Amino acid sequence: MSVKPLFSLLLPVFLLTACGEVEDTRPGTPVAHRQAAFRAILKSFEPMGIQLREERYVAETFRQHAEKLAQLKDAPWEYFGAETQYPPSKSTDRLWQEPEAFAAERDQFVRAVEDLQLAAQNAPEEAKQAVETLRAAYAPVEASCRSCHKRYRR
Ligand code: HEC
Repeated sequence: MSVKPLFSLLLPVFLLTACGEVEDTRPGTPVAHRQAAFRAILKSFEPMGIQLREERYVAETFRQHAEKLAQLKDAPWEYFGAETQYPPSKSTDRLWQEPEAFAAERDQFVRAVEDLQLAAQNAPEEAKQAVETLRAAYAPVEASCRSCHKRYRR
């Protein structure tokens, strides 16, 4: 299983942000908030992928990342309010045209994250078995990032 392409694609986003291209200056800065929430999600999600990909699995830290991701999974959504499609947003216009489909993507993500957390909590003792089980639980979360980005992120 390879998770690399997704994250290589994400890198330019960081670089743009780091250069401070466009700043969110609106009241409450909802766009900046949701982008920060997604970056935090990536920060707990990516290390798990590395552990599973490179056979560097450590049960305790994997569990911690899964737990952290579960804590962060609800954070971005409240910042997708009405009239929040303006630079520096990278959301597609489509997101605002099909709110129900977007909500369904979100719900699927939340469920997949919960399943991953549960799998991490109950992972087999034996590392090889654990990695196998956790790969199976990690994949749906990854698929959900991809699926939502494909439709709703530029
Ligand atoms: C339900 C849809 C959805 C899901 C699920 C989702 N994302 Fe996103 N993500 C978005 C949208 C929309 C944006 C663009 C936000 C904006 O700029 O308005 C985004 C932006 C991002 C960004 C860029 C933030 C920035 O600094 O501009 C990162 C990183 C990211 N997502 C990571 C992830 C990861 C990792 C996952 C899965 C673990 C994930 N996302 C799951 C919809 C989603």
